[in-house]
Amino acid sequence: MSGPLVVLVGPMGVGKSTVGELLAARLGTTYRDTDADVVAEAGKPIAEIFYDEGEEHFRALERRAVEAAVAGHAGVLSLGGGAVLDAATRELLAGRPVVYLSMDVDEAVRRVGLGAARPLLAVNPRRQWRELMDARRHLYEEVARTVVATDEHTPEEVAQAIIDALELPEGPAAPGVENTGMTQQSPTRIQVAGSAGSAGSAPYEVLVGHQLLGELPQLIGDRARRVAVLHPEALAETGEAVRQDLADQGYEAIAVQLPNAEEAKTVEVAAYCWKALGQTGFTRTDVIVGIGGGATTDVAGFVAATWLRGVRWIAIPTTVLGMVDAAVGGKTGINTAEGKNLVGAFHPPAGVLCDLAALDSLPVNDYVSGMAEIIKAGFIADPVILDLVEADPEGARTPAGPHTAELIERSIRVKAEVVSSDLKESGLREILNYGHTLAHAIEKNERYKWRHGAAVSIGMVFAAELGRLAGRLDDATADRHRSVLESVGLPLAYRGDQWPKLLENMKVDKKSRGDLLRFIVLDGIGKPTVLEGPDPAVLLAAYGEVSA
Ligand SMILES: NC(=O)c1ccc[n+]([C@@H]2O[C@H](COP(=O)([O-])OP(=O)(O)OC[C@H]3O[C@@H](n4cnc5c(N)ncnc54)[C@H](O)[C@@H]3O)[C@@H](O)[C@H]2O)c1
Ligand SMILES: [Zn+2]
Repeated sequence: MSGPLVVLVGPMGVGKSTVGELLAARLGTTYRDTDADVVAEAGKPIAEIFYDEGEEHFRALERRAVEAAVAGHAGVLSLGGGAVLDAATRELLAGRPVVYLSMDVDEAVRRVGLGAARPLLAVNPRRQWRELMDARRHLYEEVARTVVATDEHTPEEVAQAIIDALELPEGPAAPGVENTGMTQQSPTRIQVAGSAGSAGSAPYEVLVGHQLLGELPQLIGDRARRVAVLHPEALAETGEAVRQDLADQGYEAIAVQLPNAEEAKTVEVAAYCWKALGQTGFTRTDVIVGIGGGATTDVAGFVAATWLRGVRWIAIPTTVLGMVDAAVGGKTGINTAEGKNLVGAFHPPAGVLCDLAALDSLPVNDYVSGMAEIIKAGFIADPVILDLVEADPEGARTPAGPHTAELIERSIRVKAEVVSSDLKESGLREILNYGHTLAHAIEKNERYKWRHGAAVSIGMVFAAELGRLAGRLDDATADRHRSVLESVGLPLAYRGDQWPKLLENMKVDKKSRGDLLRFIVLDGIGKPTVLEGPDPAVLLAAYGEVSA
């Protein structure tokens, strides 16, 4: 029987996802979680599905998710705590390598705590746990081939116990995982948390490497029949190749060509995409693939967020900026006559594939523009980035440079960590705005004809001067901004006579609160803080340092 190598069942909080991911890594395969599938399908957290539509509806969604996963997933699968309550779901598990992870009540109360986001344990956890387990224990035992107790065991020990119990083969060549026999390095995988709030979404992975298109079908999944590949004119051939590839694999695949760059980020282009989806009969389980720069992935994500109130989408960024910034973090959107990115939605992708080979055709100015965001990540969080750029500034200007993959990976990690921790409403996300307050004002002043990175470069020098004048940043670090940015060919200055306009633009920037201007400044490398309402004289003085 094909299907999962292992199916984990057991009560909430028993550690199915931790153990499952660990196990998948040990077996050299992938991990899937039907709870995440249900959340992705419904477009909201489980607690909300329970609340809005009731448990029965949730169980039906869950049954469908289990059915799809046992048919199409060859790795480690874990099911939600109550999945076994459904008789049809139990039938789907017959004959499968199901492991029941058990724990006793003390352990459960310790691990699950007092409720959190778990819909069924909101009050009196100890009593509810007992009742829950009395109702479910025999069902877990009925479907399980083996029982593994987790009490007082580490996740590693539990994973080992499962491997031993089912005699699973370890290593990267485990059955069910394609082995091409090539010495292609496996891609780097970076985890990003989904989005919180009412439209919560599952965590996803950003893959960085070469020849990643083979990962696409797995990400699309087998519940989708139709796939729309949105690409810019500049990538017409790539878009068509991806479409053909998906069509060969049995999907009904269409390619939708968008204008290049910002021209794509309009409501007219979005409407054109909606029309294409409508005419193809695109349903909620179908999938959008956005392949291109930040402009393309922004529209693709926006179209995915809005079609049928949200379908899954996959980002394949093909610019440096797209990889390290636009495609990671879940912000999608379009522009209006009144300004950039004023209309949009938080709608994280199901996965991001950063195929470094795509960068080979990118014009050097676009490549260098993306370096501004990489250098930003260096200043706000990861000084190794700055060391790598300084070690070979010429190399940092091209994809053939010695540190390309590492620079991109490190920057993605910075963004991934920030947006993931921001789910806990730490407000951390604002640090990504380093250099951006002035940059946005410059971009607006240039009617968005400038490359984003060029404006961000000047904005960071300005922020460094502001930090220095505010007595926070040391001279050496402030000067280092200029030297690093200049070494890769980014601009450091803007027209001096434009200050009044820039100031005006900054005041209407959607990111300032009330009348007070807010800037991110550094107390040192990796130490961003907020500077609110700086003295106008200090602002002017800082601008004096970046005016040409
Ligand atoms: N969603 C976010 O969080 C976020 C973050 C940062 C920026 N953005 C958005 O990203 C956009 C800018 O992205 P960008 O800098 O990637 O520019 P872009 O998407 O405009 O791409 C630049 C140009 O390069 C072309 N192109 C793309 N990949 C190519 C390749 N591999 N080879 C040759 N040509 C290629 C594009 O068609 C376009 O003409 C802006 O609209 C900005 O608002 C979004
Ligand atoms: Zn930016």
